[in-house]
Amino acid sequence: MIMEIAIETINLKKYFGDIHAVDGIDLQIPKGSLYGLLGPNGAGKTTTISMLSTILPPTSGTAKILGYDIHKDAKKIRQIIGVCPQEIVLYERLTARENINLIAKMHGMNKTEYNKKTDELLDRMGLLERADSLVKTYSGGMKRRVNVLMAVIHDPEIVIFDEPTAGLDPQSRRVVWDFIRDFQKRESTIILTTHNMEEADDLSDELVIIDHGKIIAQGTPKELKGRIGKGDVIEFKVKDKVNREEIIERVEKLDFIKWTKAVGKHRIILNALDGLRRINEILDTVEVKMLDISIRNNTLEDVFIDLTGRRLRDV
Ligand SMILES: Nc1ncnc2c1ncn2[C@@H]1O[C@H](COP(=O)(O)OP(=O)(O)OP(=O)(O)O)[C@@H](O)[C@H]1O
Ligand SMILES: [Mg+2]
Repeated sequence: MIMEIAIETINLKKYFGDIHAVDGIDLQIPKGSLYGLLGPNGAGKTTTISMLSTILPPTSGTAKILGYDIHKDAKKIRQIIGVCPQEIVLYERLTARENINLIAKMHGMNKTEYNKKTDELLDRMGLLERADSLVKTYSGGMKRRVNVLMAVIHDPEIVIFDEPTAGLDPQSRRVVWDFIRDFQKRESTIILTTHNMEEADDLSDELVIIDHGKIIAQGTPKELKGRIGKGDVIEFKVKDKVNREEIIERVEKLDFIKWTKAVGKHRIILNALDGLRRINEILDTVEVKMLDISIRNNTLEDVFIDLTGRRLRDV
């Protein structure tokens, strides 16, 4: 089967003076997929999608959205995409319903069309009861949910969500996740940027991990996690004066240890095949007191740590 490509970027770059915000990104995003851009603060996610949505011209390289060129067909592209920006953009003195209807009108929808649609969207996002209150009376989480709806009111073929759940409580986050999943079922292609590995793992069909403006890994969540082995990840802290290199050297002699990393000031992360069952051997080998021990399956964050030696978010 030939995969149809909805979005393609070719050696896309954006430099701000010396800052290489986006440094040669090549993407091929299949039509109908939910595609994740995962990366830490400053990785270049927002800059990338700003170029795709034609609000920022690239320094070099190009991109095509459903065959339209970002340099030549900006107007057309703006009609067929919906963007939920990282910074919330709302008219505080309008109600949620008015904010959404305004966007609908800008896209040329007629009243009967958008009235029904707006109600349906507000309902799915759990906002119908407050739909007629001024947005300035909304909580941050409610505002973000309205912002998500404004990106999709005109049923765009391509939707870009830039950190749609940043700052949301777990319950609202789930509402937004369900909404995005549901929206994808309608055949749209979705780009989602996040530095939340759980979100990237749960929602993406495929993703790229971006760091310093470059793609450092690419694949399905399962493929990416598979790359660093099937093991369990054991993470712990050691006291200030402990020499972590010595511990790592000892632990690496165990044949079931796949990799080790020292992160932050006091932490060590081990990837061990069947680590949970062999925890006692590990404890005996580490010798020093292990604090805050946690054992978990591989996550996308472990993939990032494996590639960069850093965490997605510094702790
Ligand atoms: N207008 C600008 N002028 C100068 N530098 C910029 C500008 N916009 C972005 N940058 C820089 O480009 C780099 C990438 O920024 P970008 O906002 O794309 O990152 P991000 O991956 O979206 O990060 P975050 O997760 O914090 O939103 C950063 O170093 C940032 O400081
Ligand atoms: Mg950003």
